[in-house]
Amino acid sequence: MYDLIMKKRNGRALTAEEIQEMIQEYTAGHIPDYQMSAMMMAVYFQGMSADETAALTMAMARSGDMVDLSSISGVKVDKHSTGGVGDKTSIALTPMVAACGVKIAKMSGRGLGHTGGTIDKLESFPGFTTGITEEHFVRQVNEIGVAIMGQTLDIAPADKKLYALRDVTATVDQMSLIASSIMSKKLASGADAIVLDVKTGSGAFMKREEDAFALAREMTALGNGAGKKTIAVVSDMDQPLGYAVGNALEVEEAIATLRGAGPQDFTRLCMTLGSYMLIAAGAAQSREEAEKRLSEAIRNGSALEKLAEMVRAQGGDPAAVYDPSLLPKASMIQEIPALQEGYVEKIDCDEIGVCSLLLGGGRETKESVIDLSVGLVLHKKRGDFVQAGESLATLYANDRERLGAAEQRFRRAYHFGKRQPAQAPLIKGTVGDSF
Ligand code: URA
Repeated sequence: MYDLIMKKRNGRALTAEEIQEMIQEYTAGHIPDYQMSAMMMAVYFQGMSADETAALTMAMARSGDMVDLSSISGVKVDKHSTGGVGDKTSIALTPMVAACGVKIAKMSGRGLGHTGGTIDKLESFPGFTTGITEEHFVRQVNEIGVAIMGQTLDIAPADKKLYALRDVTATVDQMSLIASSIMSKKLASGADAIVLDVKTGSGAFMKREEDAFALAREMTALGNGAGKKTIAVVSDMDQPLGYAVGNALEVEEAIATLRGAGPQDFTRLCMTLGSYMLIAAGAAQSREEAEKRLSEAIRNGSALEKLAEMVRAQGGDPAAVYDPSLLPKASMIQEIPALQEGYVEKIDCDEIGVCSLLLGGGRETKESVIDLSVGLVLHKKRGDFVQAGESLATLYANDRERLGAAEQRFRRAYHFGKRQPAQAPLIKGTVGDSF
């Protein structure tokens, strides 16, 4: 390991065999964290070639279970978002796409810090569980076309270990390391095609658009190189997606979207990602055709019905799909009036995420218990004009102290100006799309 660290430190490329052995030995506990930390820092400064990144990705993907979905007929499509605030996309998108006949076998995570996780959000349906066996997962996808499973399998344990190490050694934000970390998990999860939603802006890992595109290029190259059709959409996360932030509140907004009454930005993102998922699965030939089918699935109610079917198949009570007032509800509701008039110039996305966390809607540590009912619903987004005294958002809470802390934090998130800011496009572009 000493020789490998020195080789990388001096700017030379590691061979695929060296990377494979290093990851294998690290996962087995034979390489200490201090040596791997030094290696990560050497990679941070020297970078990795495309070949090295591909070797690292495959080594991490093979470090644990490789899910075999071959007993599910047809093309299985997966979707992954690099994460953001108010990102409830999977909840609306998976039933929309499944209602168009495309198989979705999805593995999702829980939220940590100020961004939420799909599994937590789905647990807003009483009884719903993602702790299903691999056998149940496969059977459910074969029967109803969609299943969402928690990461109970040992997917890419090398990445789990490495990510925890990078988190405490200031080596997270290196392009090859992020790309290999995400793609190792996707490649181990067994889907045939992958659609990536790479976020950019104040609430994203990649604050700058050019970095988001570079990450999108790196990840699509890794996916396509491994024989999986991979497309990446680069989308805005400079303000929360939609209006709702918080678990049950986001589920309610996803349900509204499946009824055709969702926020414009969120609906557009679902249509864009969904159309690429249909194309990648061979279920549509063009974006126009795909979007038409997705719109029809919303219009005729089959997308909403598919969500209910999935909730039922995973032990949940689907009543709230038809009557969202049955979702967990907070006991305190408070409006946040604007203190001045003006245009909303900027919303600091991370601060909004922290508000939800302070209300109890997120995990501060892995062991925290979250409150599904709390969060906030914004009423004003970037570019909107606000009168003094008009409500900027409604906060939902169960604890007065938490409510006070969240309100204070919320005030920091909104920035006002006298002129309307130029509208930033939601979809910045696509990578790996040849349609
Ligand atoms: N998400 C991941 O899974 N890995 C990273 O390195 C960054 C974001």
